[in-house]
Amino acid sequence: MSEKVTIAFDVYGTLINTHGLIGMLQHHVGDNAAPFSRLWREKQLEYSFRRGLMQKYHNFGICTAQALDYTALFFGASLEKQEKENLLNAYKALPVFDDVIRGLENAKNAGFRLYALSNGTASDIELLLDRAGISIYFLDIISVDEVHSFKPDPAVYNHFLDRTSSKATESWLVSANPFDVIGARAAEMQSAWLQRSPEMLMDPWEIKPTLIIKGLEDLAESITSFQNR
Ligand code: LAC
Repeated sequence: MSEKVTIAFDVYGTLINTHGLIGMLQHHVGDNAAPFSRLWREKQLEYSFRRGLMQKYHNFGICTAQALDYTALFFGASLEKQEKENLLNAYKALPVFDDVIRGLENAKNAGFRLYALSNGTASDIELLLDRAGISIYFLDIISVDEVHSFKPDPAVYNHFLDRTSSKATESWLVSANPFDVIGARAAEMQSAWLQRSPEMLMDPWEIKPTLIIKGLEDLAESITSFQNR
């Protein structure tokens, strides 16, 4: 291996479970908590894509808050100002997936350089990673906020490569989000798609992930085998 492998970990949906507020949502919308959570996440991402395309940047926290307003309207849930604030605050303390600590531990032990690369602002991501007890694994947090755009704008991945002084072909984006995996490949990075369950589907595009892993604990070994192929 000529250089150290650099890894960009996606955060929401990859390390951190965006559906960790089902219990709180049940209180507001009962049995609709799971569909509410899904629509909230879908709208949050849609708003980030649209803002990126329109070049009307507002940070991811705003996309999340406006998506919550939309979702509440959709489900006819009348949330008080304080209730919305409570949900948005809880969004800054979401849980990690079960395979995360082992996956990060293995990747660190393999000598890889680990970074978080997220649509979220650096301060929100710092809080999330701290509360989840996983900040120690990362050399730095790199946020799209530094370029005022969102994934999958190639400017985001190129910024990551600049900030970490790394080469696209020696750098990996690890994400459970297909749009992110495809975006990184389009910017010539390597990418590993984390397919935690068979129900998760990859977009049937001509752009494919470099690797597919079923759990984060397999990441380090899969990258090492790929490098030594
Ligand atoms: C992130 C998005 C993909 O953390 O949710 O960048």
